[in-house]
Amino acid sequence: MAIQLAHHRPQWKTHIGFLLAAIGSAVGLGNIWRFPYLCYKNGGGAFLIPYFLALLVVGIPLMILEVGLGHKMRGSAPASYAMVSRRWEWVGWWQLMFVMFGIMLYYTVIISWCLNFFFLSFNLGWGDDPDKFFFSEFLMKSGSPFEIGDVRTPILFGLAVVWFSSWFIVYLGVEKGLERANKFFMPLLFVLMGILVFWSVRLEGAREGLAVYLRPDFSRLADVGVWIDAFSQIFFTLSLAFGIMIAYASYLPRKSEIVRDSVVISLVNCIFSVFVGLGVFAILGYMANKTSQPVDEVVTKGIGLAFVAFPKAISLLPSFAGIFGMLFFASLVIAGLSSAISIIEAFTSGIVDKFHYSRGAIVSILCTAGFVGSIIFTTQGGLFWIDIVDHFVNHYGLVLAGLLECILLGWVYKTKRLREHIDHASSTKISWWWDYSVKLVIPTVLIVLLVNSLIKEFSAAYEGYPVLSLVLLGRDWLVATLFAGVLISMRRWKVAPEERLEE
Ligand code: ALA
Repeated sequence: MAIQLAHHRPQWKTHIGFLLAAIGSAVGLGNIWRFPYLCYKNGGGAFLIPYFLALLVVGIPLMILEVGLGHKMRGSAPASYAMVSRRWEWVGWWQLMFVMFGIMLYYTVIISWCLNFFFLSFNLGWGDDPDKFFFSEFLMKSGSPFEIGDVRTPILFGLAVVWFSSWFIVYLGVEKGLERANKFFMPLLFVLMGILVFWSVRLEGAREGLAVYLRPDFSRLADVGVWIDAFSQIFFTLSLAFGIMIAYASYLPRKSEIVRDSVVISLVNCIFSVFVGLGVFAILGYMANKTSQPVDEVVTKGIGLAFVAFPKAISLLPSFAGIFGMLFFASLVIAGLSSAISIIEAFTSGIVDKFHYSRGAIVSILCTAGFVGSIIFTTQGGLFWIDIVDHFVNHYGLVLAGLLECILLGWVYKTKRLREHIDHASSTKISWWWDYSVKLVIPTVLIVLLVNSLIKEFSAAYEGYPVLSLVLLGRDWLVATLFAGVLISMRRWKVAPEERLEE
C-alpha cells in the first residue's frame, strides 16, 4: 500500500526546483574557494584522481542513500534515523549541531569576506600588495588562536547582511523561499562562472597555469594527506553527512527519480569544480606570466588563495579589472548563500519534526543565535579559528557521521529494504553493488581515512598551531556538539515520527 503523509509537509513545487536547490546546496564555497586551493596544495590536477575516485566510491552511493532515506521516511535526518532505531537518533542531531554550529558559523563569515571583496573590487581597494592587505589590514590577523583581538567591523557588517538574507529566504519556506531563490541563483551562478572562465583562459600565459592543472605532479599521490583531503572534500562539496540531502529529499513527491537525481546532483557539482579550476589556474598562469615568475611561486597554497592570489591577478588585468573582480566575488556570495540556506533548512526541519514548533519562530531564533555565534570568527584571531574548526569538522565530524550513517543503514536497517524503496519509486534502478558499497566498501574506506587522519594528527600538530588550541577548538568543538546532540535526542517527540506516516 502506498505510504501517505499523515500531516502537512512542505513539498517542492517542481522537480527542477528540487534539483536546483540540491545543486545549490552542493555548489558552494567548497567549489570556488576550497577546491582550487586543495587542488593547488595537492599536486594540481593530480588531485583530480583521488577526488573523482572519492566521488565514485563514496560520493554517489552516499548521495543515493541520503536522498533515498529522506524520501522514504519523509523526515529530517534525526527523524529518519529515529524511525530506523531510536538509539541512533543522536547521530542525526550531532550532524545538524556541528554543521549548524560549526561549519555554518565560519561559512557565513567567509561569505562576508567575499561580500567585502565584491565592494573592494570597484576600485581594486586591496591596493598593490593584496597579501599584506588581506592579512594585515582586512583581517588584522593576530599572532595566535589565543589572541582574539577586536571584532573587524567590515566583516561584522557583511556577516549581518549574510545572516539577514539567509533568514529571509528560509523564513519564506521551502517553495516560496528555497525553491525560488535557487531558481534564480543557480542559472545566474553558471552564467557568471562561464563568463569568468572564458575570460581567464584567453589571457596571456593562461596556458602555463593550465599546464600545472592538466599536467599534474603525480608524485604527490604518494602522500596520504592528499587522499584524506580528497575524500573529506567530497563530503563537504556534496553536502553529505550534513543532514541536508535527507531533509531536501523529504520534500519530494512519492514518484521521484532518486538514482538519476543523485547522480545528476553529484556530477554537476564536481564538474562545476573542475570547470572553476580551469579559470583559477588560467588566471594564476596569467599572473605568473606578468610577473615573470613560475606559477608555483606566485601564490600561497592556503585559505588565502581566493583573497590574495585572485586580487593580485585581477589588479594586473589590462581592462575591466574591477568588473572581473565583482563577477568573481559575486559568484562566491551566490554559491555560498545557496548552501547556507540549506544548512538552516536542515536544522529547522529537524526541530519542526521533533517538537512541532512554528517554523518561522525556529528560523528566526536559529539565525539570531547563528549570527551571534559567528561573531567570534570575525575577530582578529578568526582566521585561526576558521582553519582549526574547518579542519576538525571536515576530517572527523563529516567522515565519522558518514561512517555512522553507513553502519546504521547498512547493518541496522539493511540496505536491501532501502534499495527496494528506491527501486520502487524511481525508473532507474540500483543493483546489488550499492548494498556492498554501503555495507562494506564505504565503511572500510572511511575507517582507513580516519585512522590515517589520527596518525597524522598525533605525529605533528596541525599547521603547527599550539596543541591546546587544537584540543579546545577542534576536538572539543565536536565533543560539545555531540553532547548537545545527545541531549536533544533524549527529549520526547511531540508526535512519534512513525505516526506521521500511514501505511
Ligand atoms: N556543499 C557546500 C560547499 O561546497 C557546503 O560549499
